[in-house]
Amino acid sequence: GKSGYDHFMLKEIHEQPRSLRQCLRERVSELGGTVDLDVDVAPDGVQFVACGTSYHAAFCGVSLFHEAGIPAQAFLASEYATSPPPVDGDLVVGVTQSGETADTLNALREAERRGAETLAVTNVVGSTVSRECDQTLYIRAGPEIGVAATKTFSSQVLALALLVLSQTGASRQDVAALRDLPGNVQQVLDESNAEEIAQAYHGSDAYFFIGRGLHYPVSLEGALKFKEISYEHAEGFAAGELKHGPLALVTENTPVFAAVTGDGELARKTIGNVKEVEARGAPVVVVTDGRNDAARYADHVLEVPTSDERTAAILANVQLQLVAYHAADLLDRSIDKPRNLAKSVTVE
Ligand code: M6R
Repeated sequence: GKSGYDHFMLKEIHEQPRSLRQCLRERVSELGGTVDLDVDVAPDGVQFVACGTSYHAAFCGVSLFHEAGIPAQAFLASEYATSPPPVDGDLVVGVTQSGETADTLNALREAERRGAETLAVTNVVGSTVSRECDQTLYIRAGPEIGVAATKTFSSQVLALALLVLSQTGASRQDVAALRDLPGNVQQVLDESNAEEIAQAYHGSDAYFFIGRGLHYPVSLEGALKFKEISYEHAEGFAAGELKHGPLALVTENTPVFAAVTGDGELARKTIGNVKEVEARGAPVVVVTDGRNDAARYADHVLEVPTSDERTAAILANVQLQLVAYHAADLLDRSIDKPRNLAKSVTVE
């Protein structure tokens, strides 16, 4: 059942501290230094194939691998099969919650025909993807009923972060960041003002999401969730791309959500983009940990606890999940079963 929640989606959003703990269980040594995943890979390069939300998680994986100095690319599975890149010794990683998505399975089969070693990152034990790939990394999120993927996204990103650390070794700081993540998600859930923000912008013409680095795929994911369950127009952009076209869409009636955490170069640049949209009269909502002055340029703030930049993306995403949920709830949408969509897409 829904355990007292109005929708499975809201229940699953609230399950994230627990599902993230499950993903970590017995995989990270408390003393630091080792991450043990039961998969035996040592890739020189990685190609991800995935669809929808899982593609956004894979896209986060690309940044995480790059930071570790390992080349990685993410492909939409449907496009991968259409125009397959050379595999050239790369590990091909299929990211799929259900393990049954036809486009992802087809891309993996294409990679296998080209001689690639394959790894499945999935939630479902015994799924087709886990049977067909050479190895499987389980995300252990528990069953997800809502068509909108929520807890599986955060667990996919965490599993990919673990995969990177299994290659590089984990510092004490890495282990601390992982250990703090479930509690930090709980804090977001307990203190979120997302409902108030959904109310404030109810009836807008469109909803835009911007970010850089890991916050770019988080912006794409924030927009996908929003459009999927509210049926409102929502788009995610790389913050730096705004001035190359999308800025023309920005008006007083298009709130812009900007994820800005940390105090580095990335935050400074995104704040520059926030000022650009603010100057065009758009309402601005920043998702921030307060380590920068983004809030000064914002009409509303969604706070996240201060954390490692890698986990900050997961925290920011939880806030955007809640905004999408409450916006859809205000419109009385069929949140757990949005029109035209299915939980598992088994046709190409
Ligand atoms: O089961 P999969 O992870 O392969 O599913 C991929 C997409 O169909 C899925 O993530 C879809 O985008 C979600 N409904 C988004 O919330």
